[in-house]
Amino acid sequence: MNPKTTADAGKKSLFPKLNPLLRYLDDLGEPADLPTLRRLLEDLDVTREDLAPACLFETDAYQRNLIKETPWYELVCLCWGSGQRTPIHDHEGSSCAFLVVEGDAAETRFKHTPSGLVVPVETKVRNPGFVCASSEADIHQVANTQPQGSDLITLHIYSPQLRHFNVYSMDTPTACDPNTVRCHAEVKVSKLSSNGS
Ligand SMILES: [Fe+2]
Repeated sequence: MNPKTTADAGKKSLFPKLNPLLRYLDDLGEPADLPTLRRLLEDLDVTREDLAPACLFETDAYQRNLIKETPWYELVCLCWGSGQRTPIHDHEGSSCAFLVVEGDAAETRFKHTPSGLVVPVETKVRNPGFVCASSEADIHQVANTQPQGSDLITLHIYSPQLRHFNVYSMDTPTACDPNTVRCHAEVKVSKLSSNGS
């Protein structure tokens, strides 16, 4: 058995409730269909306990815990303490769908203006079980705005793999064309080993 197969087997046994989703994702030879991702996430019945090996928090920022990836997707468990949030960002080249597993996620959507500034359009609180799907050009920010001690856990799929995204500021005009936005941020993830440690 080669190392990749061993790792795959280990990860599937770590997260048995994700198997229907992983079967679809592992067969991808092209970017995933966003409505299909939405449906698969809506069909999942997962709790924090089901994702326990991937529920790792950090005190200084939200934590991205990579469950599995191929060139066509990455499946990541994001863990947020109270007051932690993403920058305002898009998903350059990747579609994104996520499921709220535990806690309430505050999602703010933004739009470009002729000035080059991005402005918020709306903020909605997403409760457990809610699935959000967005295309690569959508600009948003996700935050845990709950009181101290209240965790937020979300399960994200990016397809294809998310390697960069564009970051926006409400204070500084950015180009209206997302392809010419000035700032890129590296995506940092915590990779789980095959035994979940
Ligand atoms: Fe995002």
